[in-house]
Parts: sequence; C-alpha cells; structure tokens
Amino acid sequence: MRYIFSIIGAVVVTVSLVALGFNIRQVDQERATLTTNLEQRASLLADSLKESVEPYYANFTQSSFQASLQKVVNKFANRERLAGIALYDNKGTLLATSSGLPKTIIENIKIVADAMDSNTSKNDFFDADGENRYVHVDPLHNDESIVGALMVVQNAGYINTTIREIWKGNLLRLLIQIIIFSITIFIILRFFVFRQVIRLVESVKKIRMGDGKESFKDESKYSFFIPLAKEITHITKSLSQARLSAREEARMRLEKLDSPWTAERLSEFIKSTLKDRPIFVISNREPYEHYTDSKGKITYRVPAGGVVTAIEPVMAACKGTWIAWGSGNADKAVVDKDNKIKVPLHEPTYTLKRVWLSDEEIKGYYNGFSNEAMYPLCLMAHTRPLFRKEDWQEYKKVNSIFAKSVLEEIKDIQNPFILVQDYHLALLPQMIKEVRPDTQIGIFWHVPWPSPEAFSVCPWRKEILQGMLGADIVGFHIQQFCNNFINTVGKEMESRCDFEQFSVTYQNHTSHIKSFPIGIAFTGGNEEPVYNPSVEKKLLEKLGIHTKYVGLGVDRLDYTKGILERFKALEFFFDAHPTYKNNFTFLQIASPSRENVPKYKQFSADVTKEVERINNKFKTKNWQPIILLKEHHSHEELNPLFKIADVCMVTSLHDGMNLVAKEYIAARDKEDGVLILSQFTGAVRDLKGVLMVNPYNAEETSEAINTALNMPLPEQQRRMKKMRESIKNYNIYRWSAEFIKAVTSLS
Ligand code: G6P
Repeated sequence: MRYIFSIIGAVVVTVSLVALGFNIRQVDQERATLTTNLEQRASLLADSLKESVEPYYANFTQSSFQASLQKVVNKFANRERLAGIALYDNKGTLLATSSGLPKTIIENIKIVADAMDSNTSKNDFFDADGENRYVHVDPLHNDESIVGALMVVQNAGYINTTIREIWKGNLLRLLIQIIIFSITIFIILRFFVFRQVIRLVESVKKIRMGDGKESFKDESKYSFFIPLAKEITHITKSLSQARLSAREEARMRLEKLDSPWTAERLSEFIKSTLKDRPIFVISNREPYEHYTDSKGKITYRVPAGGVVTAIEPVMAACKGTWIAWGSGNADKAVVDKDNKIKVPLHEPTYTLKRVWLSDEEIKGYYNGFSNEAMYPLCLMAHTRPLFRKEDWQEYKKVNSIFAKSVLEEIKDIQNPFILVQDYHLALLPQMIKEVRPDTQIGIFWHVPWPSPEAFSVCPWRKEILQGMLGADIVGFHIQQFCNNFINTVGKEMESRCDFEQFSVTYQNHTSHIKSFPIGIAFTGGNEEPVYNPSVEKKLLEKLGIHTKYVGLGVDRLDYTKGILERFKALEFFFDAHPTYKNNFTFLQIASPSRENVPKYKQFSADVTKEVERINNKFKTKNWQPIILLKEHHSHEELNPLFKIADVCMVTSLHDGMNLVAKEYIAARDKEDGVLILSQFTGAVRDLKGVLMVNPYNAEETSEAINTALNMPLPEQQRRMKKMRESIKNYNIYRWSAEFIKAVTSLS
C-alpha cells in the first residue's frame, strides 16, 4: 500500500507542477491582453478629449475658461470603467476634475510634469482608496507650445478580479483531475499490477518451500507478467530436479553419521525415522518474540540465548510444533485462536504455539525459581541460589500449564515424540508421561549439572529428579554433567543406576543419560555471509574504532559469563603492554537479560561502572580501550562483528557449552583470528585450537590476549581450520539427529 501511495503522490506532484506552469503562462497572457485593451481605451478617450479641450486653452485668459473646461470634463465623465478626468495648466495646476477622483491621484503631479516635459503620453498603475487605477496623461498643445495636460483615470480592478477567477477555475479543474488520476492509478496498481505481483510472489514462495504442485500453467492470469511467469516455470523445473537429487543424495548418506549434516539431510532423516509422527519441542524461551516498536508497529526479534540459537534451525528443517512462553508484548496480537503462528515469518516452516503466563507466574516461575534458584544451582559462579517456597509453587504450576498445553496438542497422536528443553521445565517429562505413557520424551539440559553435594542444597531436589526421570533420554552437553547427574540420582533417589549402560531405573521406568555436545547451524557451505572489507571499514567507522586490532566479546548480560573478569584481564593487559594503547580496542556486546531479577540489574550496573573506570584510567584523546554496547543484536548484525574481530574472548565462569565461541569460528571464513576460551565451558572440549584460560586468573587471560595479538597468521590459520572442520562435523543438524535417534531407538 505504501508504495501505491508513493506512486500516486509522485504523479500528483508532477501533474500539479505541469498544470501550475501552464496556468502561470495563461494568467500572464490574459493580464497582458486586458492591460493592452485598457491602454487603448484610455488613449482613444484622451485623443477625443484633447480635440475638445485644446481650443479652450487658446483663450486661457478668459474668466469663463475654467468653467468651460469643467463642463467638458463633466460631459465625458460617464464612460464605462472611467474613474475620471483631470485637466492641468502648463505649471501643473489643476484646472478641472471629475468628482470622486482620489486626491492621491490628481495631486500626483509628477506623471503630469513628466508628460509635459517629455511631450509624450505617460501611463502607470496606482492603488488608491483600495482600488487599482490606470492613469494615462497626455500633454495639451496650442500650436506648437505645451499649454497643459490631460489626465484620464480608468478603473483597473477588474483585471485582478478576472485573473483571480482564472486561478480559481483552473485550480478546481486540477483538483478534479488529481482525484480522477489518483483513483485510476490506485485501481490499476492495486488490482492489475499489485495483485499479480502478490500472486506471483505467493507462487514462487510455495515453490521455494518445496510445494512442487505449484506451477504457472495458467499463465494468462499473470497478464503483464506472463514472460516472467514463463521464466519461473523453467526455474521451477530445474529447482525440483535439484531438490530430488539432493534428497536422493541425503537418503544415501543417512546411515553414514560421520558425513556432513545439513538441514536437508536432517529433514530426510526425520522423515525416515519418525515416519509421519510430528516433533514437539517445548522450551521456556520462544524463538520469535513480537513486540511493539517505538513507532507503534508490531515487529519481532530472535531472543539471545543458546536454546533458541541451537533449536531454531532444527525446527526450520523438521516442520514440527514448538511450544513456548509468549513473552513478547505483542505476541497475543499475532497468533490465531489456538495461540499459534507459523514461523519463521519470511519462510514459515513450523508452528509456534504460545503459552500465556500471568505476572504472578512469571515472577515466581521464571524470575524466581528458574533464574534465582535453578540457574545458580547448576552454574558454579559463586552466586547463592535463592529457594522460596512460593516460587517453587509457581514453578510446579507453570510446568503443569505447559503439560496441559502439550497434552492437548498430542491428544490424537499415537506415540508422540517430544523434546523438552532446559531447567525451566524439569517437571514436564514426568507430568506428560503419567498421562501419556506412550510418548517418547527426551529432555536436554542446556546448562551444567552440578556435583551431588552442590545439588543437595535444593529443598525440592527429589521432585526435580523425579520430574526429569519421566524422560526416556536425559541429555547433557558433556560426559562430566552426565556423571554428576547419575551420581546425584544415586545419592538422592531409591533407584537402580546402571553405570555400564548409563541408565537409571526409577519406579519401573528407565531413563538413559547421554551426552550430546550441541553445535550451531554451520555446514561450511556458501550460505554463510562472506568477508567484505568495505563492510568492515564502514562498521569500524560507525563504531568509532580506529585501532589496528579489535577484540570482541558477545554475551547476555549474565554474571556467569565472566564479563567483569574479562575487563580485569584487559586492565592487566594495558598495564603490562602499554604499546597497545591506541592500537587495540575491545568491543563488548552485551544483550540485556532477565532484567527483572535483582542480581542481573545489579550486574548490569557493575559492568557499566567497570567499563567507565577502566576507560578513564587508559583513555587518550581519540581512543578508549573498551566500547560497551548494551543492546540486543541479531545474528545478522553479529556476523560482521565476528568478522572484524582479531580476537574473540569467551571467559564464562561456568557454561554448559557456549555457542558464541562456535559462532565466532563459523564467521571466520578467512580462517584467521584467535579465540580465547574459558576452561569452564563445555565448548573447550570440542575446540582444540583455542587459547584456553582460567577466567579467574586475570594475569593469565591478559597474557593470552598478548599471545593472540602476536600469533603469526599461519598459526592462526592452522588452528582455525581445524576448529572450523570440527564445528562443521558436529553441527546442530548432527546433534539433533543423534538426540532424536537416541530417543526413538529406545522403544
Ligand atoms: C541460557 C539458558 C536458556 C535461555 C538462555 C537465555 O542459555 O540455557 O534456556 O533461553 O540462557 O535466557 P532467557 O532467560 O532470556 O531465556
């Protein structure tokens, strides 16, 4: 619509300008004609008057002279558009005049004197008594000598009135033309062009999304676009052939788990493994959050965090249903009556079903039990978990809300296949299994699992373990978390733990505990955006970075990410290596997270304060060591930042995996750059080419920065190449296939 109105606007402006040009020309011509007529009339009248009055001037001395002149003046006075006549002697003295002539005109003897001095006629326009007058003055003669002057004054107001009428008429005509034009253009664009384009786009979209049935057989309905539709028909044929071969190839590769995994291959794998059974993914965080922006328009963002980063590409490949909390302020406005919406919006492949939570539930379940109890309980970052009974009640309640929503979805499905994500929904597997024992459920824990001793402080530890053991597979990122979990179950529950099979049997149900190191959607293919030096230059300019080297940190504003420890290491670095002042800038992207949890609010303020302190300590006229951007960045915005960073720092105090580390490597298509990675992340086990650090040791991390900035390019490339190979081989498609295979193979 916006485009239609812009086109109409452009046409209206152009037509108006052209019409205006013609109008001005017409008005000028009309004015010239009217003025010429007026001049001619005045001159004719003056000529005939002259003949009548000049003889009187011969008898200038007679006492009746002035009275005779006045008579002549009165005789001529009643002519059309004539305002009056005035007669002067050769000194400019007024001898006779019509009544009612404005004083300002008859006393204006300059024009009278000019006419007599030059012995020619003089004309001019004057405004007098609010009216426009035309004044014509002729010299009067007796024989050859000038004896006086004759003034003829005409009313000229009708000229302006006529011009005004012409403007009015023309503007009205223009307005009518604009309305007719606009309606016609609107109809043509909306119903002939726009509708065809939309139809064409819809058809192309269906083809792109694999709807082979869509074709352009009925080309006549595309009117203007028939040639384009024909071309697309050809492309469609080639595309479906290419798809067929890709599927065939994917099918052939299915059984060889170590060959590269792609979205296509995963999709084939799911079809052959689950047959027609749909996949249900349940998580707290949703993959798309709709909100109203500052202009009041509904838009969406992809929330930051590992679960969404990892699972979204899987769902896009497997066309299932994702059930999650509708946390965006405009989420309700865009769903259908079943609280569902097809996503991704540009290419809908799967269904997102939103679950609504009240403020009370969010406070207790999300801010409280999930983020103030479970999260610090699982991540060893020396933050004390807060266990509140009321939060636990809300946690249980919200888990049952999710369970209800899942059960409703699977009511007509046999052996439903369900993947539960993370620590927010620990009770869900058991809640579902109790009602539907035929389900196959896997739960994946995206954060670490603590030691049995650490976990034992939780007052509701048994209920949590019981809930998780409703799943057939309990997955963690690394083997150490599996070990911790099985030991915790052994310590807390009356169950049978099989350390050979790594399984737990509790109340006649067996759960298998298995590690699945999660990855990202990197296939090493050419779908990744490539390095572009001009984009890099512009980006650095925009960020105000003018240094030779750039360091980067990308984290949620979370106290477990070791952001303050990283800054401390940077302080050590600039102290120990002052030559890097003005030569190295560290860019910290920190997306706001869990802002209603007091610990996070405090942490965010601490980060800002620390950056200010360090910047004040080292900054020079045109440089500061740290640039902090506390805002959400999309994957597309982060990619060029990863590309410009010579060194990336991931210094988590504890982390299940950390996918930022893998994203940095994926973005380095030139195979250079160095990753500094905390020894307390799950990722450190997969990425053998990093500079590993203990984030609590600021001197060590500072030296790692120095080593990174001085690492020869061939060495950087050797490491990066190896790590790119590793993240390609263990990407999210493979993770997902292995997890699905593990759950399905148990039945
Ligand atoms: C961690 C958790 C995820 C969570 C993410 C973002 O990675 O494992 O489950 O989605 O943090 O946190 P948020 O509270 O914003 O979902």
